[in-house]
Amino acid sequence: MSAERSAHSRDTQAVLTEAFRARTATIGVVGLGYVGLPLVLRFVDQGFRVIGLDIDSEKVRKLNAGKSYIKHIDATRIRQARAKGFEATADFSRSRKADALIICVPTPLDEHREPDMRFVIGTIDELKPHLRKGQLVSLESTTYPGTTDEELAPRIESRGFKIGRDIFLVFSPEREDPGNEHFSTQTIPKICGGFTRNCRNVGVTLYSQIIDRVVPVSSTRVAEMTKLLENIHRAVNIGLVNEMKIVADRMGIDIHEVIRAASTKPFGFVPYQPGPGLGGHCIPIDPFYLTWKAREYGLNTRFIELAGEVNSNMPEWVISKLTDALNARRKSVRESRVLVLGIAYKKNVDDPRESPAVEIMELLREKGARVAYSDPYFPMFPKMREHDFNLRSQPCTPTSLRRYDVVLIATNHALFDYAMVKKHARLIVDTRGVYQKPARNLVIA
Ligand SMILES: NC(=O)c1ccc[n+]([C@@H]2O[C@H](COP(=O)([O-])OP(=O)(O)OC[C@H]3O[C@@H](n4cnc5c(N)ncnc54)[C@H](O)[C@@H]3O)[C@@H](O)[C@H]2O)c1
Repeated sequence: MSAERSAHSRDTQAVLTEAFRARTATIGVVGLGYVGLPLVLRFVDQGFRVIGLDIDSEKVRKLNAGKSYIKHIDATRIRQARAKGFEATADFSRSRKADALIICVPTPLDEHREPDMRFVIGTIDELKPHLRKGQLVSLESTTYPGTTDEELAPRIESRGFKIGRDIFLVFSPEREDPGNEHFSTQTIPKICGGFTRNCRNVGVTLYSQIIDRVVPVSSTRVAEMTKLLENIHRAVNIGLVNEMKIVADRMGIDIHEVIRAASTKPFGFVPYQPGPGLGGHCIPIDPFYLTWKAREYGLNTRFIELAGEVNSNMPEWVISKLTDALNARRKSVRESRVLVLGIAYKKNVDDPRESPAVEIMELLREKGARVAYSDPYFPMFPKMREHDFNLRSQPCTPTSLRRYDVVLIATNHALFDYAMVKKHARLIVDTRGVYQKPARNLVIA
């Protein structure tokens, strides 16, 4: 690099870095969902001007009207952000105004269970014509190692920009845990890997303004792989504990008591809870991003496949436990009235994505059960791509509970009164280890 070019590079970098430190920079957050919206609020809180970009005009309209569409994000916070200049838009030409563009769009699997990169690629293609010198582009969506370098970098370079000199590119995975009261965007440490060292330094400076601890890593691929390791670690350990649950059940041992006992070991053991199967946008999906990429290198990811197999069989296993329990009471699943408690994928959130509760409802319906649900987070059964139930949430009261043959606890929201359920339900199938003591009307599944 010539001295002149190097000085030019330092200038662009220095100007951008200074704008981040002085909080005069404008931040563009692209994709205003569970990840993007909390990030918007955190940047606003820290004095940045923020533009939110999303292709969903309904979300844009709601935000600009000071409304929230995520239960755990209060509308007051959106209104406060609006008062501080936050604005949402579906007009991507506005991205030119942003000094940092942070991409938080979905990374699902397609019908062949392979990475569906439409959203990430669609986003960078929409941003591309408006990119300008002196911007930082950060991808936060969970993805396979190589995405930033192989998909984003060439598209940015095709505009004639030199990455690391004109535009800075990083991958910085999101670790949001919706509903977790112990950690916030600010206190969850953030990994940041750059396309070049300059890119990484610019990225670290930006995130250091809003996050207590930023952890730099040597490349975008390391950052991408770190996120996958975290989620695969969970998927595999949940698979292990689900397998242990099936074995313990056959042996007449309460797996939850075992986990509580094992958790007293102060080192070398991390407790994972068994359940009705995996749910959410991340754990059932992300591991298969690595499986797909590993194939390019002639490798099989056997732990991932095995955990996937165990975890995806859990809804069937729960149904078999429920069937046996009804059978013991001289009843068939067909025509039985079943109330599913909790349809979110985990407790205390309003997110139904990939929820095993919904899969269990499908299986029950196929077997002819009369299925109802109760979930304070979903007054109406949510619109889902693969599931269609024309149902509304039923009350969970002593009188209503007596109407059902079985109450199946699929998601252990704190809002349910479990002591009352135990007192009034005829039969309970508990997939979440809510109850610690055996009872005549209780089956652990
Ligand atoms: N939800 C979580 O807890 C969580 C945690 C860690 C990581 N992640 C990862 O973060 C990413 C985003 O997840 P999410 O849960 O926020 O998803 P989400 O579905 O809640 O939000 C994504 C948003 O992106 C918008 N969008 C889609 N295509 C777009 C485009 N081309 N341009 C602009 N906006 C577009 C959608 O309209 C939506 O509002 C995913 O890769 C996910 O794996 C999610």
